[in-house]
Amino acid sequence: MTPSIAIIGGTRLTTLDTLRITHRENLSTPYGQPSSPLIYGELNGRNVVFLARHGQHHTLPPHRINYRANLWILHHIGVKQVIATAAVGGIRADMAPGALAFPDQIIDYTWGRHSTFFEDNLSEVTHIDFTEPYCPELREKLIQGTHDLGITASESGTYAATQGPRLETAAEIRRLERDGCAMVGMTGMPEASLAQELGLSYAALAVVANYAAGLGDSRQAIDVDAIGDVLADAMARARHVIASLA
Ligand code: HPA
Repeated sequence: MTPSIAIIGGTRLTTLDTLRITHRENLSTPYGQPSSPLIYGELNGRNVVFLARHGQHHTLPPHRINYRANLWILHHIGVKQVIATAAVGGIRADMAPGALAFPDQIIDYTWGRHSTFFEDNLSEVTHIDFTEPYCPELREKLIQGTHDLGITASESGTYAATQGPRLETAAEIRRLERDGCAMVGMTGMPEASLAQELGLSYAALAVVANYAAGLGDSRQAIDVDAIGDVLADAMARARHVIASLA
């Protein structure tokens, strides 16, 4: 049976160890190759499909990810809901390393990415409403599931999508802070708007890997190697949340 839920796994979530894998599928799309094979399996007795955003071996940088192929293939196989996990830098005070958050808004600072399905061979120019970049019902379900597990998570916050792959300067983060952003990541856009263009319910579970540049106690350079350890622990909690929802 075609799963109705897809999980797009970000950094440190290239696999879901709680997923009982049934089969894999290598598919291509009119937009090229998705980041990884589709991995089908059972999570908590429910069929789900898993896609590794940065590739199975974590080799695709944020600006090189084929977001259109990833979303298109999920929609094509019949998925209705997409839960995306994403590592972020924490800007707002409650976004300390290791924290989980369900962003409710986005500001897009990316550039030069293929960010729409509506550009070629159009019979008319098409605009989608993007007032709510994340599906409120799916967000609510995730928040409730997290609460029921006794896991703490921030229930709102604006996600700043930056171009990467470099991290930001301290001044850039001060600007994002002034813009009202709570967290910063590199993969949230155009993933969210492409999902919306296809009519998919899309919500993100953000995992804070580090204080964003210039923030935190030490206000030192970000220890890029330490990010992995923080994420390993926090992603274990993220897996619980995802498994409980499926
Ligand atoms: N900035 C942007 N993306 C990120 C960060 C960050 O500090 N940490 C993890 N992903």
